[in-house]
Amino acid sequence: MAEIRRVGVVGAGLMGSGIAQVSAGAGYETVVREVEQGFLDRGMARITKTLDRAVAKEKLGAAERDAAVGRLHPTLDLADFTECDLVIEAITENLGAKHELFGALGEVCGESAVFASNTSSLSITELAARTDRPDRFVGLHFFSPVPVMSLVEVIRCGQTSDETFDRAFAFAESLGKSPIACRDNTGFVVNRLLVPYMLDAIRAYESGVASIPDIDKGLRLGCGYPMGPFTLSDFVGLDTLYHITGIMYEEYKEARFASPPLLRRMYLAGYHGRKTGKGFYDYSGDEPVVSDFVK
Ligand code: CAA
Repeated sequence: MAEIRRVGVVGAGLMGSGIAQVSAGAGYETVVREVEQGFLDRGMARITKTLDRAVAKEKLGAAERDAAVGRLHPTLDLADFTECDLVIEAITENLGAKHELFGALGEVCGESAVFASNTSSLSITELAARTDRPDRFVGLHFFSPVPVMSLVEVIRCGQTSDETFDRAFAFAESLGKSPIACRDNTGFVVNRLLVPYMLDAIRAYESGVASIPDIDKGLRLGCGYPMGPFTLSDFVGLDTLYHITGIMYEEYKEARFASPPLLRRMYLAGYHGRKTGKGFYDYSGDEPVVSDFVK
């Protein structure tokens, strides 16, 4: 099985920067690409902040941090992926944009390079089919926050070769993660079960079952979940959740995957959760409080 030495990560948003961080931290030379310098700077700043925090908490040595940062190669140019053995796409959940990206990567990457998508809901089969290497294509779905969450879903479709799947699975393990194997189906394992749960929480609120903080508290204390469903929705991003529901509903045509009206309105109003400062909660003060939209 060919060794992976150099990793490419496309996208330095919340997921892409997290993936680049764990890749560099595990010893891989890691090229991370964004479309604009501002996005790239923000992604790199997120990584250094997380690593600095780990050093301050004595979870990581300063030398290890510096070595990890030294293995990160930020760029705006896809041509810098030429030597990569594995390229992980973590851009926006837009099928057209992903097809275009993998087309361009096919032009610059070597024959044996494996392509992976971190998509949470698009079809791996469909993405793979439009590339020049459907047998060397997998899903590598990480969870947020990537440096903390140990799960990676490794998704194979009908075209994925055993060698590609094994390389991707071994790569996830080499990051210190605990991967699971999934077949390509919309939502894979986790989102197929998690998304209807998050949507049901919104429906429960819409029908007046309880307040947002009480539903959150109920699930935290009643089930031992680290975050209640509204805190988690704000954390994931209501824009992301809304897009995922659209894709999942389109696939399954089941009501449990359909967006509740409130989610759609919050999405349209720009209440996207933590990333915009307001979602179900308002994050402008010391402690989150229920946001004006849902008061
Ligand atoms: N980046 C890096 N590290 C972070 C972090 C971040 N954004 N947020 C927290 N951490 C680290 C902290 O530094 C801390 O590290 P140490 O233990 O080494 O000190 C650790 O995580 C715990 O953090 P805190 O003590 O501050 O807070 P916490 O105990 O409440 O944990 C949490 C925070 C890990 C995010 C926890 O609340 C949690 O597990 N939440 C659920 C997250 C979840 O469900 N994620 C999946 C989302 S769904 C998804 O991603 C799939 C999709 O496709 C939509």
